[in-house]
Amino acid sequence: MRQKIVAGNWKMNTTLQEAQSLTAELIGMVADEVQGDVKIIICPPFPYLYGMKSQLGKAARIEVGAQNCSEHASGAYTGEVAAGMLKSLGIPYVIIGHSERRQYFLETGKQLAQKVDGALANGLKPIFCCGEPLEVREAGDHEILVKRQIEEGLFHLNTEAMKKIVVAYEPVWAIGTGKTATTSQAQEMHSVIRKHLADKFGAETAELVPILYGGSVKPDNAQELFSCADVDGGLVGGASLKSRDFVEIIKSA
Ligand code: 13P
Repeated sequence: MRQKIVAGNWKMNTTLQEAQSLTAELIGMVADEVQGDVKIIICPPFPYLYGMKSQLGKAARIEVGAQNCSEHASGAYTGEVAAGMLKSLGIPYVIIGHSERRQYFLETGKQLAQKVDGALANGLKPIFCCGEPLEVREAGDHEILVKRQIEEGLFHLNTEAMKKIVVAYEPVWAIGTGKTATTSQAQEMHSVIRKHLADKFGAETAELVPILYGGSVKPDNAQELFSCADVDGGLVGGASLKSRDFVEIIKSA
C-alpha cells in the first residue's frame, strides 16, 4: 500500500497572523477528527516556515514543506532560498516545478532537475509537479508533455533516489479554475506517469511512488478523485486555506 498524502500549497497567501490562526485550527481539527495514517503536509510561504515548525511541535502529525528552492547551493543569488537552508530549519518536503514556477518564472526542465538534486542532497523529499496547459490537452499532446516533464526532472536519478520522490500531477487548466479533472482523466494520467516511471525505474519502484492529484480539489470531489487506483492523495491550493475544507479533504484520503 502506498502512503496517502494530502498536501496544502498555500502559495503567496496569508499574513503571519492568518498563518498562525490557520495552523492552530488545523492542529485542533486534525487531532480531533483525522484517523488513519494519511500524511499531512502544509506548505506556507518561506517567512513562516521556521515559526510554523515550532508552532506544530513534535506531537502534531502535520509536516511542513517549502514551495520552492534554488538550484544553487549558496552564493550571490539575491532573494533565493537554498535547499540547505530548508534542511537547517528541519523542513522535510519541498515542492519543485509547480506550474506557476514554470509559467511565471520560466523554470526549465534542466533547472528543475538541479533543484531535485539539491533537495535530495540535503535530505529533503521533492514533491515534483507536472501537468499540461489547456491548449496542450486540446491538441491531444498532454501525455507527451507530461512524460517529457517527468523525463527532464527525474530520469537522471537512480532507483534509490526515485523512491524518495513524490509526484504531483496538476493539469494547469484545473488549477484555481474550479474545473477539476474527471476521475477518468486523473486516473488515466496517473497511470501514464506510473507506467513511464516503471519503464525507467522498474515496476517495484514505480509502485512505491505516491502520485498526488492537484487542481481544484475540494471537499465535494476529493473522495471520488482519491478513490482512483493510481491517485495517492492531493496537492491542494485554494481549499487548503480554509481549515474546515482542508480537514474534510484529508478525511477523504
Ligand atoms: P487549487 O487547488 O487552488 O486549484 O490549486 C492547485 C495547486 O496548484 C496546488 O499546488
